[in-house]
Amino acid sequence: MSVRVDVYFGPATLPPSEWQGRVVVVIDVLRASTTMATALAHGARAIIPFESADDAVARFKSFDRSEVLLAGERRMARISGFDLGNSPAEFTREVVEGKTILMTTTNGTAALMAVQGATEIVLGAFVNLSATVAVLRHAIRNTLGIAVVCAGSERQFAMEDAVCAGRMLRAVSRRLATAHWNDAARAVVALDRRYGKDIEGCLRDTVHGRALAEAGFSGDVALAAALDTHAIVPVYAERQVTPLGRPRRR
Ligand code: MLT
Repeated sequence: MSVRVDVYFGPATLPPSEWQGRVVVVIDVLRASTTMATALAHGARAIIPFESADDAVARFKSFDRSEVLLAGERRMARISGFDLGNSPAEFTREVVEGKTILMTTTNGTAALMAVQGATEIVLGAFVNLSATVAVLRHAIRNTLGIAVVCAGSERQFAMEDAVCAGRMLRAVSRRLATAHWNDAARAVVALDRRYGKDIEGCLRDTVHGRALAEAGFSGDVALAAALDTHAIVPVYAERQVTPLGRPRRR
């Protein structure tokens, strides 16, 4: 049977057995996957995703205050009482180094938590594109399937995630010439060809890019459009996100 290359839009609710034997890349360019890559690149110890703010707060109580930060947004704004929102600019080395970050975002964390059961789950964005492509190449060498989950916005298709997915798949498409591509996987490659030449322009023109600019987060769009700022791949395993290759503390 040939290897599968599938793209899904929105949190993909497949049974865990469907994810087995596949590397899953979860993309939320604006802004969760960009922000998580930035946090880990700046020395955060781990990120633990939660679907609800209440769950994050409940878990927060089990940590020593000096080692943990609460982060997350609703309608793009920082959740009241939290240390950080979801802006990559906030996750500086001074703020996050050595910390465990308990995080909840509207779409990104839910998309991540929906794919449990995969052989490997990583987070991709433009800021860590080449590092993520290296993970895909490794998966292909090991004849694993590839699934890309584009988190989207409010369960809708989001152009920024699709173009990023297309860019990643285009980088490995020659090695996957005999693979079975779903229609969404073929479509994102075409979208990257059409819209990927000016990434920042593309992001600024998306629904969420415009909403972020209106909400005062224009700088985040520029940060999210920058290619390969961080040579890091966030991996989600055992309920936490840590950088690929770093030994996991329990
Ligand atoms: C999300 O997870 O929905 C986003 O990252 C929203 C945002 O903060 O821009």
